[in-house]
Amino acid sequence: MVKQLRYGMVGGDLKAFIGEVHRKAINFDTRAKLVAGCFSADEKLGVETAEAYNVDPSRTYKDYKEMAEKESQREDKIDFVSICTPNFLHYQIAKEFLLHDINVVCEKPLCFTQEEAVELEKIAKERNLVFAITYTYTGYTMVKVAKEMIEKGKIGKIVSINVEYVQDWLVSSLDPKNQKATTLSVWRSDPKYSGISNCIGDIGTHAENLVHYLTGFEIKRLIATTDTYGMALDLNSNMIIEYDSGVRAALWCSQVALGHYNGLVIRVFGDKGAIEWNQEYPDYLHYTPVDGATQVMIRGSAVSKQYDAGNLSRLPVGHPEGLTIAFANIYRNVITTILKKKNGEALTKADLDFQNVSNGVDGVKFIHKAVESAKKGTWVEY
Ligand SMILES: NC(=O)c1ccc[n+]([C@@H]2O[C@H](COP(=O)([O-])OP(=O)(O)OC[C@H]3O[C@@H](n4cnc5c(N)ncnc54)[C@H](O)[C@@H]3O)[C@@H](O)[C@H]2O)c1
Repeated sequence: MVKQLRYGMVGGDLKAFIGEVHRKAINFDTRAKLVAGCFSADEKLGVETAEAYNVDPSRTYKDYKEMAEKESQREDKIDFVSICTPNFLHYQIAKEFLLHDINVVCEKPLCFTQEEAVELEKIAKERNLVFAITYTYTGYTMVKVAKEMIEKGKIGKIVSINVEYVQDWLVSSLDPKNQKATTLSVWRSDPKYSGISNCIGDIGTHAENLVHYLTGFEIKRLIATTDTYGMALDLNSNMIIEYDSGVRAALWCSQVALGHYNGLVIRVFGDKGAIEWNQEYPDYLHYTPVDGATQVMIRGSAVSKQYDAGNLSRLPVGHPEGLTIAFANIYRNVITTILKKKNGEALTKADLDFQNVSNGVDGVKFIHKAVESAKKGTWVEY
């Protein structure tokens, strides 16, 4: 029986943001070992990253195509690849590994076009490969508790949703004289690397995915506005999304909302109760029953452990969990799924609790529909 997997990474050099988070998250459960990589567009930095992680030089690649080709021929080949490059490379890298029968974990947004997204979904399905998308916020324990509470009817029938994901790291774009140090790679503002959207593609898609994850609702139509402030791509967007259930959500995403850093907040209102979760305080879930006072449910506490999802908590109550553990929770399920497939074991619903390539397809469609609506100034049907 196989107990540990081997994995490789594309992108995620020592200076990058999210690749390091992926590696630390995977290490939480020590059930997958980093053995190969093409970590950087900069060869020297790629080698330094490989050395820092004890990756054998023979498995440190200059080019992801060579990596897919050579890894697929090895008896001890990687079981999955984590793709942590800027958006413009996701499609071609993911396709290359899928065509070499290697499972994929890919950053969002999945790719640039809907055609590419559907093609990746088709290849993964045909080859029976696991294809996960790291929609981070679905990995938080209290988000999973909120989902279970909604499923168990704790807020009754959903009547309205409000979600925002607001940051301020691109506020300097508003005025070239007013320079604020950026905290993320600026390729996000360039259509060549980012795609047709900056703000909606970078963070709005997380907000929409979270609504879908919590409620299961599918979008029927939406109307959006975007603000570019003279830049090539959107830096702010307001939209109304109408779901198949008839429920509407107001979604606001922004990279110029001064004083907001990673402000993802979701509020779901029902006829029997309401829940509210704020990413910057991820261990606390606010629950208001229609006939009682607002309760603050704390991760790791007995009250959150009444729910199955509450038991996914890794640290004792009061010791904060965060981004890396949310990623670790996603990888826990992805790795379990790949291990069970290798060992011929049956998969459960809990094992498959991670966002997959179909959610990635939905994300790409959402970005395109929102940009289309903003251009036309009208509702856009799905
Ligand atoms: N899920 C989340 O919460 C989350 C958070 C941040 C970023 N992201 C996504 O992760 C991706 C990367 O974002 P980031 O902030 O880490 O970017 P980054 O600019 O910090 O890192 C990008 C990495 O890709 C490497 N790279 C570029 N071209 C390459 C090539 N041809 N071959 C190999 N490596 C190459 C760079 O050298 C660098 O290591 C983006 O798609 C972004 O949307 C997701």
